[in-house]
Amino acid sequence: MSSTEKIRLLIVSGDLDAIKQLRQQLQAEKTVEVVGHAVAALEAIRLTAQEKPDGVCIDLEALGSEGIAICEAIAARLPDLRVVMILPHGNTDADLMRRAMRAGVRELLVRPFNAGELVESLHRAQHLEPKPDEGFEAHRQHEPEAPSTGSAKRDGGAPHVAPAAIAPEAKHGTVLTVFSAVGGIGRSTLAVNLALSLKEATKGRVALVDGDLRFGDVGILLNMRSNRSMVDVCTTPGNADVELLDSVMLSHYSGVRVLLGPLSPEFGEMVTPGALSMIIRALYERFDYVVVDTHTFLDESMLMLLDVSDKVLLLTTSELPAMKNTKLFLHVTEMLNYMPDKTLLIVNRHNPKGRITPADIESSIKHPVYAVIERDDKVTSEAAQTGQPFVLHQKAAPISQSVNRRATQLVAPPSNGTGPKRRLGLFRR
Ligand SMILES: Nc1ncnc2c1ncn2[C@@H]1O[C@H](COP(=O)(O)OP(=O)(O)OP(=O)(O)O)[C@@H](O)[C@H]1O
Ligand SMILES: [Mg+2]
Repeated sequence: MSSTEKIRLLIVSGDLDAIKQLRQQLQAEKTVEVVGHAVAALEAIRLTAQEKPDGVCIDLEALGSEGIAICEAIAARLPDLRVVMILPHGNTDADLMRRAMRAGVRELLVRPFNAGELVESLHRAQHLEPKPDEGFEAHRQHEPEAPSTGSAKRDGGAPHVAPAAIAPEAKHGTVLTVFSAVGGIGRSTLAVNLALSLKEATKGRVALVDGDLRFGDVGILLNMRSNRSMVDVCTTPGNADVELLDSVMLSHYSGVRVLLGPLSPEFGEMVTPGALSMIIRALYERFDYVVVDTHTFLDESMLMLLDVSDKVLLLTTSELPAMKNTKLFLHVTEMLNYMPDKTLLIVNRHNPKGRITPADIESSIKHPVYAVIERDDKVTSEAAQTGQPFVLHQKAAPISQSVNRRATQLVAPPSNGTGPKRRLGLFRR
């Protein structure tokens, strides 16, 4: 962009009055053009993809922790984007600032500020080095430095924090999310058995998360009950507090740690996309594998979850409605710029004598079939009735061996020998 061109700015805030005020502040500015505004994550992501702005101004005051998650999502899609985050007056939360900078924020601006200061932040953000694409290897070399708004405060201006304050990214495990575009297809069954199988295969640290925020079945499939769930982590100040998270998670006898979803559907909305994203982040920093079950509708929580996932295991069957919706979902992943190999298509309940073959599915859906899991009503139903997952209790069954093969395949290093791909920012595609 030449110096004469305007910075095309998107404003993201949960407060329409704040958006109006920012628009008014910037009206007279010759170097900035506001190209749109969004009040929620999905809208922000959609507008960023559509308008391709040069900068985004995220109002953390109105959005809370969700602002960080939004920032991660959009910064991962457009790594050169200048993201300026607005913090409430008097904010000195160093941890929040670190997280903001890690999420891709180039400049922090504390209220009150004038239009000139915002514009200056946007220009300054342009000259900062973009985040490295491949994870945070560069920052691993450095000790974390506590950011200080005080020392960064310019004469009479709004405080800002330079990217030197970015803390090193903690080591993270692999997030595997089991999703499907239609319900009742076997997501929970696969998520549960896959987590157990990964534990057996790797002896590593495996977490299983019930991300079906309305009607989660993970607890019932593992015969585990508790009056605590991820809602406790979301409603307690200091979201995703590690000790709290640890105390809420259950220990299955296999060694897998389990985080139950909301115990009742009405609590589902208490798990905001921001909170869910923070929980997953806290988990992937501590576990080698995080397997996540989901619900089928593509709301903001699911979008955040899919974004943060290393692989999306997309279940379908050979039934026409399932295939149609799977195809539609794959179209969404294209719009989200996911790499094709992020989504692994799995045909579940396959009947080898059926009319439609995996090859037919592949050519109809136009996505490679990664794996086929056979239909086995007896074994799956017995497991569901007893809470004894088949990979542990019916090891010889072909369906158990199929799931075990998938687990081994997923943990195997890529054949090109380059090792597992690192995350793009916090969000890998
Ligand atoms: N490979 C399979 N063969 C036969 N039945 C299966 C298979 N996989 C899952 N099932 C059965 O399908 C039903 C739905 O499975 P599950 O609850 O895992 O699906 P889901 O996609 O999580 O459903 P929901 O949308 O209700 O969350 C269950 O009765 C389960 O035992
Ligand atoms: Mg389910």
